[in-house]
Amino acid sequence: MTASVIDGKAFAATVRSKVAAHVARLKTDHNITPGLAVVLVGEDPASQVYVRSKGKMTVEVGMKSFEHKLDVETSETDLLALIDTLNNDPEVHGILVQLPLPDHLDSDLVINSIDPAKDVDGFHISNVGLLGTGQKSMVPCTPLGCLMMLRDHHGSLSGKNAVVIGRSNIVGKPMAQLLLNDSCTVTIAHSRTADLPGVVRQADIVVAAVGRPEMVPGDWIKPGATVIDVGINRIERDGKNKLVGDVDYASCAEVAGAITPVPGGVGPMTIACLLANTVTACSRANGLVEPEGLTA
Ligand code: GUN
Repeated sequence: MTASVIDGKAFAATVRSKVAAHVARLKTDHNITPGLAVVLVGEDPASQVYVRSKGKMTVEVGMKSFEHKLDVETSETDLLALIDTLNNDPEVHGILVQLPLPDHLDSDLVINSIDPAKDVDGFHISNVGLLGTGQKSMVPCTPLGCLMMLRDHHGSLSGKNAVVIGRSNIVGKPMAQLLLNDSCTVTIAHSRTADLPGVVRQADIVVAAVGRPEMVPGDWIKPGATVIDVGINRIERDGKNKLVGDVDYASCAEVAGAITPVPGGVGPMTIACLLANTVTACSRANGLVEPEGLTA
């Protein structure tokens, strides 16, 4: 079998156009423009690239973008004061504090000081609890993007055997929760899982989110399974810098029914879902109907 390729780049463009359509409706019908504030502390080059790209796409879908670039030495008090200002700013519907933060700042404290209704990353402890109890919440962007692609590919996910490899708070755990909420039978596998190949071979759906280049070979994959690769790993091969996922694409694509490539799979969906979460947060804040197909 040769897997069909799930085109995350094209899917993300569709999500962004749905967001843009909802933003346009909010403007014409209610004179409201959703706004996203992104806070960057320090000058980490990768974070700067992400933040620039987020700002550009926010404006492209018709929303307001507010960028706050703070010095690497910024104190926790000053950062919390900025978040308080953003929490109380009616033009700001979504707040994202770019991670990782410098070591002298307590990430949990900072994230939990964001108004949960504006927490478009879905990292606030209230949103984690709401998702865990199947209630309406803000959902972390990367797992939300994976869920959208899986629903699009399969229709219903009910009764599927899903194995999530990786137990991070940002991807693995919320991904498992979302799949459970869609009535999958879910296993969370991790570095201490006994017989990982045997566990993965049971899966109709595999989500790999471990951050280890090409860790999952094709002979772990059940024929016809759907493979979602969350990994983005930079490696040296044949003297060249290459981007690879957590699964060995070539061998997995021979066995799987469908697979996401790296790049061009899950990656583009993350920012698209950030925009989706911002328009959702704005709609909820104003007591208006939520955009269809853009939430969990
Ligand atoms: N750094 C890398 N990815 C992310 C993300 O999705 N959210 C935040 N806040 N920081 C990040």
